[in-house]
Amino acid sequence: MTDMVKHPETYFSELVPERDTLLKRLEQEAEKERIPIVGPVVGQLLFVLARATAAANILELGTATGYSAVYLGRACAPAGGRVVSLENDAQMAGRARKNLVEAGLADTVSVMEADAVNTLPELGGPFDLVFLDIEKKDYQHALAGLTGTVRPGGLLIADNTGFRDANGFNRAIFDHPAWQSVQLFSYLPMHSASHDGLCFAVRMPDAN
Ligand SMILES: C[S@@+](CC[C@H](N)C(=O)[O-])C[C@H]1O[C@@H](n2cnc3c(N)ncnc32)[C@H](O)[C@@H]1O
Repeated sequence: MTDMVKHPETYFSELVPERDTLLKRLEQEAEKERIPIVGPVVGQLLFVLARATAAANILELGTATGYSAVYLGRACAPAGGRVVSLENDAQMAGRARKNLVEAGLADTVSVMEADAVNTLPELGGPFDLVFLDIEKKDYQHALAGLTGTVRPGGLLIADNTGFRDANGFNRAIFDHPAWQSVQLFSYLPMHSASHDGLCFAVRMPDAN
């Protein structure tokens, strides 16, 4: 039998990436106020994928207090990349803007107070990378707009695909000719929920 670590959740919890004072404060606020942020593992995953793909035009749907936007901004800022992040709650958008100023990312990340699904067609793009983290029932409605705005070869990352409300999106992207996708069910310390799915999809050229 394969010799695996005995307590994988304890083991992998010890390998959660370190965070600075700002990110730790946002984690504390999220816990206290029950704001469903991605936490340090998915945050670092966003950083790694954005940097590895050299994503310069990044779109985030669902900003909350700007926690995941900090990871995306830090990934693309050194190469002069930009992040547009959409949030439909005015108070959250305001908090995110302040936090992004504190992160030194005010020139890299712009937070738009807008409904993500309705605004997508107006955004233009094309985007190299999109992070989808709004109401799960709206993922499926966002998919048509995303198909038109992610460049061929671009990457779509959707959080919380283990939520029942994401089922419509999961089935739609699985069958969609414009996307090649994969679902990963993982243990994600400090993520809301700690056992959840993530979808990764690449926009295929010559398909609509
Ligand atoms: C899961 S939280 C985002 C967490 C954030 N990505 C992070 O990890 O730091 C979802 C956010 O999306 C916002 N939201 C939900 N539906 C939306 C929509 N249709 N358009 C724009 N924002 C939406 C909510 O107000 C909430 O702040």
